[in-house]
Amino acid sequence: MKLISIVGARPNFMKIAPIMEAVGEHNRVSGKPIKNVLVHTGQHYDEKMSRLFFEELGIPRPDVDLGVGSGSHAEQTAEVMKRFEKVCLSENPTHILVVGDVNSTIACALVAAKMGIKVIHVEAGLRSFDRTMPEEINRVLTDSISDYLFTTEKSAEENLAREGIGQEKIFFVGNVMIDTLLKHRDKAMASSLFECAGMRDSSDRVPGYGVLTLHRPSNVDDPAALGEILGALIEISKELPVIFPVHPRTRKKIEEFGLAKSFTELSSGLGSSGIHTTEPLGYLDFLALLSSAKMVLTDSGGIQEETTVLGVPCVTIRENTERPVTITHGTNVLAGTTKDGILKAARSSFERKSAQEKMAPPLWDGDAAKRIVAVLAGL
Ligand code: UD1
Repeated sequence: MKLISIVGARPNFMKIAPIMEAVGEHNRVSGKPIKNVLVHTGQHYDEKMSRLFFEELGIPRPDVDLGVGSGSHAEQTAEVMKRFEKVCLSENPTHILVVGDVNSTIACALVAAKMGIKVIHVEAGLRSFDRTMPEEINRVLTDSISDYLFTTEKSAEENLAREGIGQEKIFFVGNVMIDTLLKHRDKAMASSLFECAGMRDSSDRVPGYGVLTLHRPSNVDDPAALGEILGALIEISKELPVIFPVHPRTRKKIEEFGLAKSFTELSSGLGSSGIHTTEPLGYLDFLALLSSAKMVLTDSGGIQEETTVLGVPCVTIRENTERPVTITHGTNVLAGTTKDGILKAARSSFERKSAQEKMAPPLWDGDAAKRIVAVLAGL
């Protein structure tokens, strides 16, 4: 088997890391090695959105960097396709492996499927049933042209079966993002974030805080939508200071809409109230921040899963989730996007302490990548 593994955007890096490691481990002990070429599309390119993650997670330097950068959906997807096709022509892989639901995922899957190269999709079958989300289109299309579909939760298998995808293509293996979390959890606790950000009080304690992340176009690209969400966060932050690592897209919008005055920089200290912004954080600092938070408010998919395993209350600022297991097994609650909805969800999730005693979802145990490679080794 000759494999090309693809990453493009920040949430891909923690998913590919354990797969690269498990392939390496397989190759050390097996007489039938898997040749694995790593391609970075360059969809994310800022130091703090990309390179830092390679360093912290020990991901090998990509063999090929397509350097596509930002653009409209069509421009970005088309540019990845044009450049990735050339790589497939020169490398001649038998299989490609894509993760998640970003534009790089569908772009590379589409190129490979049309060249007769087998497509492996990790984190297949998740559905929000909301076609206004660009990621939902990416998920449905990628799954429909994939040959091997690795799933993280039971709902995904049901979704794929409903869409007519044969059982023989579907493998329930668990969650590679959680492999990475469990591997790095202890190291993250040694993060110097709290010292560097001056977050400890005079008795060397870190006061209680919440964490906010926002980057979905539907939440941040429209001034009314963003204003509504921030209205809720300003209320919450009167009682619980909120730390807000700001995605580059969101930072641009905050500046454009003249909303910067709602925030202070974390570097000037964490008071007992207010929303405190920082640059995007690296994986280890962010994991440390999540682990000790009293509450997380987010529109991210992956953070709903991470807080489930960490047992931290999570308020999801969206109308739907493609990850229902985070609600049935985890600490997640869907808040919608109105000020009232977010305030109500924050209050109730704070009171739902019993959620913290729930078990992790099935197979979110740190061995998902090994299960994937065991299947690949048999191809
Ligand atoms: C992408 C994914 C989304 C994922 C998110 C995680 C798609 C459709 N969306 O959204 O599913 O949850 O990544 O972050 O693939 N930018 C920078 N530096 C960077 C990257 C982006 O400044 O390194 C800015 C650019 O202005 C860019 C904007 O952020 O136009 C959006 O980047 P893009 O890759 O289009 O989508 P994300 O919002 O990051």
